[in-house]
Amino acid sequence: MLKGRRIVLGVTGGIAAYKAAELVRELIRRGAEVRVVMTAHACEFVTPLTFETLSGHRVATDLFYRTGDYTMDHISLAEFAELVVITPATANVIGKLAAGIADDLLTTALLAMPAPVLICPAMNSHMYAHPAVQANLARLASFGYTILAPGTGELACRTTGQGRLPEIHEIAEEIESLLTVKDLTGERILVTAGPTREPFDPVRYISNHSSGKMGYALALMAKRRGAEVTLVSGPTALPAPQGVQVVQVQTALEMRAAVQDHFKKATVVIKAAAVADYRPVDCARQKMKKKDGALQMELVCNPDILAEICKNKGKRIVVGFAMESEDLLANAQKKLLAKGMDFIVANDLTEPGAGFNTDTNIIRILDRQGGTESFPLMDKLEVAGVILDRVNKMRTQEKRG
Ligand code: CTP
Repeated sequence: MLKGRRIVLGVTGGIAAYKAAELVRELIRRGAEVRVVMTAHACEFVTPLTFETLSGHRVATDLFYRTGDYTMDHISLAEFAELVVITPATANVIGKLAAGIADDLLTTALLAMPAPVLICPAMNSHMYAHPAVQANLARLASFGYTILAPGTGELACRTTGQGRLPEIHEIAEEIESLLTVKDLTGERILVTAGPTREPFDPVRYISNHSSGKMGYALALMAKRRGAEVTLVSGPTALPAPQGVQVVQVQTALEMRAAVQDHFKKATVVIKAAAVADYRPVDCARQKMKKKDGALQMELVCNPDILAEICKNKGKRIVVGFAMESEDLLANAQKKLLAKGMDFIVANDLTEPGAGFNTDTNIIRILDRQGGTESFPLMDKLEVAGVILDRVNKMRTQEKRG
């Protein structure tokens, strides 16, 4: 989602400088254009050649570098950047930036920089805890810089404490967030995701193939766009989206209780979960033993969580999903009207790229006014984007009256 975004990466002289090379790769993988500035101390840890090769551009290291055409690196970098990230940021560069010192290319460029700045400190835990460093970070925050606090764990100096550079995917996610327009600020969005599991003995359950990817993508995109997000998730193999409150559940009844708990304060509810329609009437205490012949099991219908919440929906925007294997539009239309949501996102699991466990989806959005909009095959994060655009459009129309 960083396609075409222009990022300047400042690398300063700490041992975590080697990890900054991975950040270049990750940002490029996400579609960004990256220019790297290294301090003299950073060049002691990693050579500019590494970053030149990975970024595909000359690495700027010298304030007095003569380009021959009278362009000045610190100004052209400031003009280029949509965002600057300093990874790792040493105590030294944090101190210099806090004091407004500009004695090398990176610190000079930062003073000329109108773009948002992300600082990723990494150092020994005592250095990080030092009041001078903490005061300097607080000062940088007061300039509007974003500080990504270091992680706690084993440090390169063979001690344990707070000072580790956050994981590369965490830094990349913070960059994604900083570069996303905050058009959902003020919304409290409740998303459900994944399958539910309905046990019938301590080791077995009834479930479905839902991976949870669509719901997790929605939660992540809503958070990037400024919403406060709660994700009620059935069991999945996915990591918790950064900055999202995750409530883990197993069964449909647990999901219903969690949704009811968080429904009151929600302004938007998006129900992407594939809730099991039935659960076994009984769950045996001990593992059921195999017997000859067929097994009969009595199932009871689970409550329809979406239909229940729609009865008290008030001014909330409620979005449902319909995953079908036949008569997509007719079935989706029926669910939209029967359950009472604002719009439904329909997909046909027999279409290549739109089934279970894929990173893509092909959706149609059906609304209560009878409108249907079709979208091409898209990445699930892009699909999440168009669903949230629709939520936003409804809210804007509602505000206009
Ligand atoms: N849903 C729900 N609670 C249920 C079943 C479904 O909240 N017990 C929600 C899903 O999260 C989804 C929508 O209802 O947003 C449609 O779910 P789907 O499984 O497609 O439809 P069902 O109503 O279960 O109908 P069917 O299984 O017959 O297609």
